[in-house]
Amino acid sequence: MTDITPFEAPFTRFAEWFAEAGQSEPNDPNAMALATATPDGRPSVRMVLLKEMDSRGFVFYTNLESLKGVQLSANPHAALCFHWKSLRRQVRVEGAVEPVSAEDSDAYFHSRPRLSRIGAWASRQSRPLESRFHLEKRVAEYTARFAVGEVPRPDHWGGFRLVPERFEFWEDRPFRLHDRILYTRHDDGWRPQHLFP
Ligand SMILES: Cc1cc2nc3c(=O)[nH]c(=O)nc-3n(C[C@H](O)[C@H](O)[C@H](O)COP(=O)(O)O)c2cc1C
Repeated sequence: MTDITPFEAPFTRFAEWFAEAGQSEPNDPNAMALATATPDGRPSVRMVLLKEMDSRGFVFYTNLESLKGVQLSANPHAALCFHWKSLRRQVRVEGAVEPVSAEDSDAYFHSRPRLSRIGAWASRQSRPLESRFHLEKRVAEYTARFAVGEVPRPDHWGGFRLVPERFEFWEDRPFRLHDRILYTRHDDGWRPQHLFP
């Protein structure tokens, strides 16, 4: 299988699997492992939540000054991995991230509960915290600061969109003879290729 398939093909397949995961996973079907790396190639990985997906890519939101935020600013290459245990399926996505527009970050930020918006101000994500009390004190301070009116989006909080260059769909098959399809992006579309399991 070496044909070129249209640009939507792997996104459509992802959307189908994602919808099925939404029916069968007990928690967070949109949870995905996000791997980032320093410019000299030291990796780190953590879970984040997929908040939007279309043919442009996969969007998640975070503190831009966190470890992942700092790494992505210095090295935009990243990878995602979804594992839906109930379906015995995995999807891997690799590419570079780009910042989500300020308007889209604002729109998502303002859709979040008020306390989550206060939390985005209070949390200096990934930096040392001397005590739980210190965090609660910051939450109280920002609750007082934004007692009246909207809680604006902090400059240090926003979204990244991972723009796929490689997409791999893995599905469990008996005797570990699993089904794997890798889609690689080309100028004229995606090239699908089966891989040995
Ligand atoms: C299921 C799950 C979903 C998460 N979703 C997010 C998320 O969408 N954004 C985020 O910043 N952190 C999220 N976290 C927390 C991250 O895994 C991580 O602890 C935090 O972002 C700090 O990572 P960093 O130090 O590598 O920047 C999530 C954790 C779990 C377990």
